[in-house]
Amino acid sequence: MNIDPFASRTHEKMKEVLMDPLAVGPAIHYYMIRGGKDKRNVTVWETGTVGGEYIKTYGHYHIVDFRETYRIVEGEGILLLQIRKKDAEGTWIDDEIESFQAIRVKAGDEIPIPSFAGHALVNISETWLVTTDDSPVNLSGDSASMPVHADYKVIGNMRGMAYYVVEKDGKPTLVPNPAYKKTATPMVTVL
Ligand SMILES: [Fe+2]
Repeated sequence: MNIDPFASRTHEKMKEVLMDPLAVGPAIHYYMIRGGKDKRNVTVWETGTVGGEYIKTYGHYHIVDFRETYRIVEGEGILLLQIRKKDAEGTWIDDEIESFQAIRVKAGDEIPIPSFAGHALVNISETWLVTTDDSPVNLSGDSASMPVHADYKVIGNMRGMAYYVVEKDGKPTLVPNPAYKKTATPMVTVL
């Protein structure tokens, strides 16, 4: 099997989910080393802001019911979690959010991602933000490939998560993403 565990998320790709897609940013926003089944995945975030927005992951929903655990190894971040509403038939409504959480995390923390929750992680520190996680990734040999358990398209279509994390007076603040129809009032745990 042709295994290429390294992947990087480019500025070009991240334009799909930035608050300001025209903003200037680093060529690579974050780096990943994928562990496959037996090893943990490692992610390393760049520092700084892009159009005022802190460097973040693209964000995705899990399409299968499983819990993933992130460990923060270095740095400080804000974990965004959101759950969509469902219609009467039980189909997810992509632009209506039932609950949204912004959780401050730092080195040493271990955070479980609830089943079906959309999630993205933002680097608010002046160092690399480094995490490990245990989500199984199918190593296909395509370094740009996305994990098969994850749906990135919905977040891409919505131009990001329900809120952007923006630097204001040196501190992170939440700015609602206007693409969402009804956005739940954020439940903030120490922003
Ligand atoms: Fe995930």
